[in-house]
Amino acid sequence: MLLKKIGRNDPCWCGSGKKYKFCHEAFDEKLASYNLPRRQRPTHKMIKTPEQIAGIRESAKINIAVLDEVASKIHVGMNTEEIDRIVYETTTKMGGIPAPLNYEGFPKSVCTSINEQVCHGIPAEWEVLEDGDIINVDCSTIYNGYYSDSSRMFLIGNVSEEDQRLVRVVKECVELGLEQVKPWHFLGDMGQAVNDHAKANGYSVVREIGGHGCGVEFHEDPWVSYVTEKGTDYMMVPGMIFTIEPMVNAGGPEVFVDEENDWTVYTEDGKKSAQWEIQVLVTEDGHEVISY
Ligand code: MF3
Ligand code: CO
Repeated sequence: MLLKKIGRNDPCWCGSGKKYKFCHEAFDEKLASYNLPRRQRPTHKMIKTPEQIAGIRESAKINIAVLDEVASKIHVGMNTEEIDRIVYETTTKMGGIPAPLNYEGFPKSVCTSINEQVCHGIPAEWEVLEDGDIINVDCSTIYNGYYSDSSRMFLIGNVSEEDQRLVRVVKECVELGLEQVKPWHFLGDMGQAVNDHAKANGYSVVREIGGHGCGVEFHEDPWVSYVTEKGTDYMMVPGMIFTIEPMVNAGGPEVFVDEENDWTVYTEDGKKSAQWEIQVLVTEDGHEVISY
């Protein structure tokens, strides 16, 4: 924890090998100096070392390349099992491991969520992409023990103006959220920016499923909500890495989980849902997108 006493001449908690007093002492003092009602201080575990950040960047190179490969191949008439194969093969060829495979029993290498599927869709041969579908392909990668995670939406064939708008607005939600990512500001600033833009467009944001810290493990603290208010939640500090991945519904925010596979999440009202996911590093003067 941040407030644990470290001797000033002890090695810094960040792993730099430098003495604490020459490294993160001022950082910790600054962090401790804030009064934070309805707010939380990040723990040291949430703050990545330069070595970890370098490892996560390498993992993200594969993560991005895999989604680029999917983007170049996805088409009407393809089934989602074929997307799974592209993800598995591209990832492993580059020396990575698809993080979803066998994760808490997940049977495939990627999540493919079509139309009213909100997230955690399981690729299957019987599931064929049809003209007018919108699909989220959520790709997570392990490389050399480091995790990266991002997802994109794809428009299949001729998509209605209405559904194109949903996909576009959710991307804007992520971009507006990203603008709020700066050190010594709050995760709730990001959450509110996402939520405001979704609401202003007549959409709703899923409450039960959020983003997460990501890098040394697949899902780390903090839990990242998009229904939070400005000025609340965790303080963002340099070295934190988390995902911005709002699920936005064209109708109401209510969702349910498929009883048969215990994974796939659907909108309660059957209306469409879209999601984009980026992985973001908080830097000294703002942010850097690690994966997208
Ligand atoms: N990729 C998802 C996320 O963004 C997690 C999927 S878990 C899985 O957090 F097991 F379904 F892959
Ligand atoms: Co994620």
